[in-house]
Amino acid sequence: MKVTVVGAGAVGATCADNIARKELCTELVLLDIKEGLAEGKAQDMMQTAALLGFDTKIVGSTNDYAKTAGSDVVVITSGIPRKPGMTREELIGTNAGIVKGVCENILKYSPNTIIIVISNPMDTMTYLALTSTGLPKNRIIGMGGTLDSSRFKYQLSQHLGCSPSDLNAVVVGGHGDTTMIPLIRHATWNSAPVSNFLSADQQKQIVNDTMVGGATLTKLIGTSAWYAPGAAGAALVESIVRDQKKLFTCCVSLDGEYGQKDICLGVPVTIGRNGWEKVLDFTLNADEQAEFNKSAEAVRSMNEVLKTL
Ligand code: LAC
Repeated sequence: MKVTVVGAGAVGATCADNIARKELCTELVLLDIKEGLAEGKAQDMMQTAALLGFDTKIVGSTNDYAKTAGSDVVVITSGIPRKPGMTREELIGTNAGIVKGVCENILKYSPNTIIIVISNPMDTMTYLALTSTGLPKNRIIGMGGTLDSSRFKYQLSQHLGCSPSDLNAVVVGGHGDTTMIPLIRHATWNSAPVSNFLSADQQKQIVNDTMVGGATLTKLIGTSAWYAPGAAGAALVESIVRDQKKLFTCCVSLDGEYGQKDICLGVPVTIGRNGWEKVLDFTLNADEQAEFNKSAEAVRSMNEVLKTL
């Protein structure tokens, strides 16, 4: 199994580190346009192999896509990150060109790959990857909802005083501060609805804190977060290479599911060896569906911007 991570910044390097520690592949390529960055980080990670006991071989590459040939999965993290006060959407002008170029290069050497998109604005970059590569839709996966759902579980766990891994909770819709929809009505602590244990005010607070989860960290750190985004990318790689068919919220091409078409948006899907395999219908109520439609409209207008670039 071979995996490539494009972009050796904080998110890409963290994703690669998680992949190597879990030995998700025999060969892992880390690629960046900045001279020496990927080679340096790859070597640094390889120097943890004896300490951590993994056998994945990590290869760094300065923009030489020949080294990525035959990748089963490619994770795209390239592009500029957010600065405090910026929305993810403001990155479109710069990142669209970068992501399009990366997709072209990847396809030359790995025509059968599955692509995981992390670059922002993630919903539009996923749509761009889908439309510019022409790959079958199941092989294009946007990571956003996986990260947002994990942040949602974190916020819930803080109020419930429980383990985040005992929670089931998903965020659907877009990966934007105002477009994501934490589905609190569907969230459970093991099998009990979280609403059994939380006041209406607490629930509102949890939903709000989840939605601005990324922006809160950008303000604290001075740039966008990387531990959870990197781990979310690696969790998707794991479900693919091990064919786990785990349920994640991912940004995928919709063809009528959740009432939407010609758009990539976050919905619950199973992830396995064929990429995203099945969309699950969580049966939204009228309010949730209205929010989902609103989110789709916002993402659709961002997708329209692609035509003007
Ligand atoms: C975040 C970025 C990765 O939410 O979108 O932290």
